[in-house]
Amino acid sequence: MFDNVVNMSSSAARSRVYITRSDMPECGVNLLKKECDVKVWDKATPIPHAELLKAVVGVNGIYCSLSDKIDKEVLDAAGPDLKVIGTISVGYDHIDVQECTKRRIRIGYTPDVLTAATAELTVALLLCTSRRLPEAMHEARTGGWVSWAPTWMTGPGLADATVGIVGFGRIGQAVARRVKAFDTARILYNNRSEKPEAKETGAVKVSFDELLAQSDFVICCAALVPETKELFNKQAFEKMKRTAIFINTSRGGTVDQNALIEALQNNTIRAAGLDVTTPEPLPLDSPLFKLKNCIILPHIGSATIEARNLMSELTAKNILGALNNMEMPAELK
Ligand code: GLV
Repeated sequence: MFDNVVNMSSSAARSRVYITRSDMPECGVNLLKKECDVKVWDKATPIPHAELLKAVVGVNGIYCSLSDKIDKEVLDAAGPDLKVIGTISVGYDHIDVQECTKRRIRIGYTPDVLTAATAELTVALLLCTSRRLPEAMHEARTGGWVSWAPTWMTGPGLADATVGIVGFGRIGQAVARRVKAFDTARILYNNRSEKPEAKETGAVKVSFDELLAQSDFVICCAALVPETKELFNKQAFEKMKRTAIFINTSRGGTVDQNALIEALQNNTIRAAGLDVTTPEPLPLDSPLFKLKNCIILPHIGSATIEARNLMSELTAKNILGALNNMEMPAELK
């Protein structure tokens, strides 16, 4: 059953934890190894679902990533001793939360430790898209840079612009604090509830439609839940300014991707910057890759060295907390 795993330690009395890829940051893996019998998928790529089903039989904990679909089948395969899922992500749309709750399987995730990293990447992607950096770099390297030219490679600035943030949780708020430093005129947000933290940046809560109509930059920071699935559809893009720039660093599933492709092809909006797509990785023949007005990153929102180490440590501490019937530092409630 464990043909493809590396046995890292063993003790019959210790809890059994399965880690779904070989390249999880060591600091977290080592914490688990001290207390548990840890087995690891031996490749630095997502474990195929069929292999995962075989690998988790009888485990007490699973350390997974957002690439692993933790569904009813996986929970069934693991069996009744499974106590905890620890995901090295803040998003948990890959986990069947309802089914875990029903079975009293606790879920650990990684909020807070990746907020700054993801907000930084969001601003980087926004500037990259608005100021057309990949296109400009390409021109510089390939002879397109003939002379300084007054209208060449221009794009809209953030100063005096209106920025609309959809999803005003930890990451949305951190993005607001950062864009404010660019002397934006207004920050709007759309969120289920009013957020007192908005006072800090002067962000104003508006309806989704108002936000779309008034924003020069529309940034999606909303978690993927049934209510946000394909929230950015054809109608939404049509409600945006024709000069709008759309940024998504949450989940690809919040966007109707065909509608976005059409909106970019028809110049319904000016440009898009995406750190997340459907599916991931995005197939190389996707029309999105052919569009000059679309920048695509390979889901690297939280990819600072510091954040990834903290995420791994937190994942391990979450798992250990649950295995020891104690508080988990970041339990999904
Ligand atoms: C990244 O997308 C995460 O959910 O941590």
